[in-house]
Amino acid sequence: MNREEARRRIEELTVRLHDHNYRYYVMAQPVISDYEFDMLMKELEELERTYPDLALPDSPARRVGGDITREFIQAEHRYPMLSLANTYSEEELRDFDRRVRTLIGDEVEYVCELKYDGVSISITYERGIMVRAVTRGDGTRGDDVTTNVKTIRSIPLRLRADYPMLFEIRGEIFMRRESFRRLNEERVDMGELPFANPRNATAGTIKMQDSAEVAKRPLDCYLYHLIGEDLPFGNHYDNMMQSRSWGFRITEYIARCRNIGEVFGFIREWEQGREELPFDIDGVVVKVNSYAHQQELGFTAKSPRWSIAYKYKAQQALTRLLSVSYQVGRTGAITPVANLEPVLLAGTMVKRASLHNADIMAALDVRLNDRVFVEKGGEIIPKIVGVDRSSRPSGSQPIEYITLCPECRTPLERKEGEAIHYCPNREGCPPQIKGRIEHFISRNAMNIESLGEGKVEILYDKGLVRDAADLYDLCFTDLLGLEKVITGEDGKERKVSFREKTVQNILKGIESSKEVPFDRVLFALGIRFVGQSVARTLALHYRSIDRLMHAGFEEMVLVEDIGPRIAESITGFFTDEGNRRIISRLRDKGIRMEMSQIPEKTSELLTGKTIVATGRLKGFNREGIEDEIRRHGGKPAASVSKKTSFVISGEDPGTSKIAKAGELGIPVITEEQFLELLKT
Ligand code: IVH
Repeated sequence: MNREEARRRIEELTVRLHDHNYRYYVMAQPVISDYEFDMLMKELEELERTYPDLALPDSPARRVGGDITREFIQAEHRYPMLSLANTYSEEELRDFDRRVRTLIGDEVEYVCELKYDGVSISITYERGIMVRAVTRGDGTRGDDVTTNVKTIRSIPLRLRADYPMLFEIRGEIFMRRESFRRLNEERVDMGELPFANPRNATAGTIKMQDSAEVAKRPLDCYLYHLIGEDLPFGNHYDNMMQSRSWGFRITEYIARCRNIGEVFGFIREWEQGREELPFDIDGVVVKVNSYAHQQELGFTAKSPRWSIAYKYKAQQALTRLLSVSYQVGRTGAITPVANLEPVLLAGTMVKRASLHNADIMAALDVRLNDRVFVEKGGEIIPKIVGVDRSSRPSGSQPIEYITLCPECRTPLERKEGEAIHYCPNREGCPPQIKGRIEHFISRNAMNIESLGEGKVEILYDKGLVRDAADLYDLCFTDLLGLEKVITGEDGKERKVSFREKTVQNILKGIESSKEVPFDRVLFALGIRFVGQSVARTLALHYRSIDRLMHAGFEEMVLVEDIGPRIAESITGFFTDEGNRRIISRLRDKGIRMEMSQIPEKTSELLTGKTIVATGRLKGFNREGIEDEIRRHGGKPAASVSKKTSFVISGEDPGTSKIAKAGELGIPVITEEQFLELLKT
């Protein structure tokens, strides 16, 4: 192919891929298979590699950006990004309506939308191409985060037809609750601190320097505001609807209302319905529909007079702070937890709330016996949001943050610029030791289920285990007859005793863990920042622990997906004499320290496909089906997402996986159909 032909083909592929992206992500109605799509994408990528200067600025092959933008460049907003007046009071909303009608008359029409709880963004399109995406910043200028926003699939890079030559569209970037939950699970697995709520996770993600990392985090976006000189209609609603045909995903949660009564109807509907939504909202935004009316109403210095946000009250309760305890995690991170006088909040009894860290405690200036406001937001554990100072007992003192580890009395450390305190006594601090063993036996690691439910605690207390390798020295007589009363998560006491059957199960579980493949063993070791997928990458790359142990930092950062932070953590882990000893003992006990045979590639049939298997299959166990998928060039995955090509369902499939597939329109096939597919 000569240069001119390449140019034409690149253009053609760019147009076609944008079209397919739109059909897939916006319309949810793909017209070609994932495989065909991937083939077109591959062709474009290859052409762009050969002729980098011919790549178009909005190339769909560049969504997963890789460029590190050390810091964001600031960009001025062409139109200031104002905020909205907001209120929690129905009366104030009625006042707003009265003011509007006084000026406009009773025929005014409102548009009601959900108030998404994320990070607002303003995106400029010139001649149908996304040219800039800027955060709100101070309203006049914000951070240019274009490379990051380009990774969000529901935002088009290039528009379809009949769009205005130049306009801005604004909206909210957010993370769905399910994606948020999964992201936090991964972070905890890797020894990182979880985000407090989806909004923080979104804000943290959109400001990341490496857009390839952003691309891995599932962000979403709803667009809700158009600004430009030549918009087709004279009102908000029609323009929003029209913008769908340009390629935008516009919310279906929108309504035109003829009077304030209908506005309240919308508000009530979603006050009930918000729990069922897959993302967080914090209220409803009411807008005057007609641009002429908007103009007549004008702006205050800070916000438009034609719009108001009605915010739902977060569910709050007032109760007393009895004490503060400090929990020590597997990595030594300290979390302060408030113990509260039990109080009913959103249908559940709340006894504890997170206080996050020393800075937040100091900012709240919370004191013992204070009456505190507890709130339930998107997060799982409720949090303390304020103190009722008027009822504070006299003579109370600020709580001094602990300086010694509550478990082992070692002086705590806090790194420059970090909010979290750590106990550095890795080797001698009981919750850290127990936490590492709990992680080792957990389901996605060595999966020794028979040791769950507080049993590790007993083994630790009796002095039988101090590290993961000790588990493999346990014998029948060590275990038989052990017992202890433990307090569960729910605060209830339970007696755990090791009878014959229990002991047999434990020993069987430990023995079977010797079959666990190397990548999961690597994850089980609990190296900071090495979650399941990093462990898998490393295991596939290095194939054995020896090779991994001998790889230096410089070499490791060249492996795809391994950044300096991970590489440093891994090399540090292996330099530690204690860790090396545990690994050597585990190896002596027969734990897998290398990958089994590389599955030989038999075909390319599944190249580019991500496949999830669920339930019991007749012809494969878990590793077996994963190897089979790899043998044919595919990528096995554990959970269903937008990226999943199809799901193979066996007996007793995971109901949430099947439901998710249904929701996303992903095909679910039987094992037989899968085998049939491989024959073609
Ligand atoms: S319209 C000038 N619509 O709430 C009007 N804003 O408190 C521009 N927000 O800055 C905003 N959902 O970040 C609008 N459906 C929606 C919204 C929404 C969330 C955010 C937005 C805005 C903030 C104001």
